[in-house]
Amino acid sequence: MPLSILGIAGSLRKGSYNRALLQTAIELAPPDLSIQAFERLAEIPPYDADRESQGVPEPVAAWKDALLAADGILIATPEYNHSVPGVLKNAIDWASRPAASPAYGGKPIAIMGATPGIGATIRAQLALRQALDMDSHVMPRPEVLIAKAGERFDAAGRLTDEPTRQHLTRFLAEFEQWVRRFRT
Ligand code: FNR
Repeated sequence: MPLSILGIAGSLRKGSYNRALLQTAIELAPPDLSIQAFERLAEIPPYDADRESQGVPEPVAAWKDALLAADGILIATPEYNHSVPGVLKNAIDWASRPAASPAYGGKPIAIMGATPGIGATIRAQLALRQALDMDSHVMPRPEVLIAKAGERFDAAGRLTDEPTRQHLTRFLAEFEQWVRRFRT
């Protein structure tokens, strides 16, 4: 049975390593894991409970619908100041309401990340896991922690480092199994 995965990269930058990483995951995914990238992160306004109470803005509704429809969620996060970029956390905050039924509630999720630095997005991934763990099933391992991204991606944003590509392929195979565990 094919699985539908919603992918999101937590960066608005055109040359984003994390968007390139998500794109590579789309290419390397096993045949039964169909990953669609959510491309409207920039349209999601700052979370505002007053605005929410009047009806969520259309881009937020599209984001929540895409989450609800997915069998699983794949997030590629940058690390900003040892945490999750505000734009990604903001989108999660919208999706987490109402608290009794978050749009990603009960979903299997996998996190990966890339940075030009040496910290490999470890702290951002921990922060993201903490924000999501309450309501979803975040895959504990394997992890995709990419340091020195400038050495692993080429100028066109292609992930060229072969060991990293192989690791990503294994990670996606594990994620397929993880998602199947939670299918009812
Ligand atoms: C960064 N960057 C960064 N990198 C890191 O490894 N740890 C960090 O704490 C931070 N902090 C940070 C804060 C802010 C405000 C910016 C703009 C950047 C660098 C960051 O990893 C780099 O810009 C990446 O290229 C961002 O990911 P994308 O856009 O390439 O996906």
